[in-house]
Amino acid sequence: MASFNLVHFFTFLSFIINFVPTEAQFDRSIFGPSCQYFNRTTPKSALALNLRAILSDLSSNATAKNKPFYNTTVATKNHPESTVYGMFFCWGDVPPEHCSQCVASATKAVFSDPDQELFCSLAPYAYITYRDCMIRYSNISFFSTPDLTSGSSSCFSVDVSNKTNLISLYSKTINQVVEKASNSGVGEKKYATKEARIAGFKTLYCQAQCTPDLSPQDCRKCLNFSVAETRRTCLSDLPLWDRNPSCSMRCDVYPFYRPSTSPPPSGFLPVTHSSNTDSQAPAYLSQKCSRNQTNITGDTTFRSNLNTLFTSLSSQSTTNSGFFNDTVDTISGFFMCFADLSPTLCELCIQNATQTISSECPSSREAAIWYNHCMLHYSDHPFLPTLDTTPAYRHFNIVDTFKPNPQQSFFTWTLAESVSQLRLDIAAERTNTKNYGIKQEKLNDKQTLHTLAQCRPDLSPSDCSTCLDNIMRNEIPWCCLASPEGKVLYPSCYIMFGLSPFHTEASQVEPRKPDTSSPATGEHAVI
Ligand SMILES: *[C@@H]1O[C@H](CO)[C@@H](O)[C@H](O)[C@H]1NC(C)=O
Ligand SMILES: *[C@@H]1O[C@H](CO)[C@@H](O)[C@H](O)[C@H]1NC(C)=O
Ligand SMILES: *[C@@H]1O[C@H](CO)[C@@H](O)[C@H](O)[C@H]1NC(C)=O
Ligand SMILES: *[C@@H]1O[C@H](CO)[C@@H](O)[C@H](O)[C@H]1NC(C)=O
Ligand SMILES: *[C@@H]1O[C@H](CO)[C@@H](O)[C@H](O)[C@H]1NC(C)=O
Ligand SMILES: *[C@@H]1O[C@H](CO)[C@@H](O)[C@H](O)[C@H]1NC(C)=O
Ligand SMILES: *[C@@H]1O[C@H](CO)[C@@H](O)[C@H](O)[C@H]1NC(C)=O
Ligand SMILES: *[C@@H]1O[C@H](CO)[C@@H](O)[C@H](O)[C@H]1NC(C)=O
Ligand SMILES: *[C@@H]1O[C@H](CO)[C@@H](O)[C@H](O)[C@H]1NC(C)=O
Ligand SMILES: *[C@@H]1O[C@H](CO)[C@@H](O)[C@H](O)[C@H]1NC(C)=O
Repeated sequence: MASFNLVHFFTFLSFIINFVPTEAQFDRSIFGPSCQYFNRTTPKSALALNLRAILSDLSSNATAKNKPFYNTTVATKNHPESTVYGMFFCWGDVPPEHCSQCVASATKAVFSDPDQELFCSLAPYAYITYRDCMIRYSNISFFSTPDLTSGSSSCFSVDVSNKTNLISLYSKTINQVVEKASNSGVGEKKYATKEARIAGFKTLYCQAQCTPDLSPQDCRKCLNFSVAETRRTCLSDLPLWDRNPSCSMRCDVYPFYRPSTSPPPSGFLPVTHSSNTDSQAPAYLSQKCSRNQTNITGDTTFRSNLNTLFTSLSSQSTTNSGFFNDTVDTISGFFMCFADLSPTLCELCIQNATQTISSECPSSREAAIWYNHCMLHYSDHPFLPTLDTTPAYRHFNIVDTFKPNPQQSFFTWTLAESVSQLRLDIAAERTNTKNYGIKQEKLNDKQTLHTLAQCRPDLSPSDCSTCLDNIMRNEIPWCCLASPEGKVLYPSCYIMFGLSPFHTEASQVEPRKPDTSSPATGEHAVI
């Protein structure tokens, strides 16, 4: 299970406001503006005029110059105390058109919200960070000087069998990216990434970068400081990221950076025939009867309680929410229909599920069954209300010795981006339906990636986010996805992705197919 621990060590008071710019899709304020909100100036002062001037300077130069970095100085004659220094910087993986859009949104945001205007536009210092860019201005010159005083960092723990191994792999990889990023001269891009296979299908993705105005020595010093800082704060956990206004480093177990700043590759992705699980009709996927097959044939009470539970679940399958849980004596059960499946299809799916599971798992105290459009579980011990990860259904097309081409790398990154955004949107309750979100991203002229994430509606949005994060960090085999479709279904939440839409109009439950759960080829993982 992934866990987080966010450590802020701003040495001055900062004010964090979250907002979402609407223009640029992938522009998202992760950390929000951070402005020094004391010692603010007055609206009519020379300093206030220069603060406004610098924002418009940054914004117009971002659109005009198509460069990832720009610094500027605005001064008023005879008022040296009102001189303002400013810069914008786009992270190393950001394509030029996203860069100018991001800077434009960031500068605009300082004025668009009255609260932010109050705090930021009159603040003598601001550092505003977005998904793709940052802007920074101050009445104290900061060019060419690493700022080690104001940063923040976060740690995470990841499910691996050998943690010692992972920590040493982490140290080795982060040292390599730090060295590579700081190896170019003043004014040049200082950015590096590196991937390292951990074990199984887990991969460590690391990134380091400095603003280009730093010298190689200062860049190394800044990143060294970040690495040391996270080591100090994260103790036995892994550092996730550390970021200050001059440099940043981040490692994670999913591809969080774009594979390239070039436009998306135009070729099509290969699609395997296994995509029949994404068909329009509700289709049986798999089932799991518990290994603990206590003899319940003789336990008539259990049997009769189970039948009562099935009747109850089945009768509720037309409820609009597509979810229902119930407890009969000691047995708890629930069903969930995926996405916004029509009540008719939900009912069909659940009726088939209750009938199939009772005939296929006649002596199980716990069982689960999965269809393309619904799942049903029961157990004689209570479900964990927050994060239930077993039994799980997983389906991917995996190739262990995978050398992704540019289309595939772009797909993997797009998927990671979609899942993290769905997770953030659900956690912040920005989606129309609680604990449910769907996203479409164009991969090329013909192919669109559809991603769906949903949790049990009785989970809190933040537990939902934790559950989805667990799938993202611990389940998806990011290194080795050979085709753009897959699903992971936990009892508490699930993620599905593929090239066809999820909205379904079909009216037939497909016949059960032979069980394909023995992964004979090694290319197919169905558990
Ligand atoms: C705020 O202003 C006071 C007085 O002018 C000064 O002593 C203090 O250092 C300033 N604080 C900052 C963070 O600039
Ligand atoms: C920056 O502006 C603040 C607020 O007006 C002021 O207190 C501070 O003295 C200024 N610092 C410099 C170096 O001009
Ligand atoms: C940058 O913006 C300023 C103010 O809008 C403008 O005067 C200047 O020409 C711009 N510089 C470049 C290089 O585009
Ligand atoms: C940009 O930063 C450099 C130092 O990295 C400085 O020499 C130069 O004067 C700055 N440019 C402007 C327009 O302030
Ligand atoms: C973990 O990995 C380290 C380094 O590769 C090795 O020395 C150690 O024996 C491993 N521990 C376990 C429990 O496998
Ligand atoms: C960065 O850290 C490494 C190892 O901890 C050390 O060898 C190197 O001298 C440091 N570099 C700087 C510029 O601090
Ligand atoms: C199997 O289920 C029974 C009844 O719930 C329980 O008493 C027993 O401990 C379980 N055995 C195992 C190995 O989980
Ligand atoms: C299960 O229990 C019933 C009734 O108690 C008994 O007739 C049957 O032989 C048992 N089956 C097994 C596999 O133990
Ligand atoms: C449904 O699940 C919730 C946990 O999310 C639990 O508190 C509640 O008791 C359950 N309801 C029934 C009828 O089992
Ligand atoms: C489930 O649906 C399929 C297709 O309609 C049907 O063949 C099968 O008999 C159904 N199973 C049950 C137990 O109703």
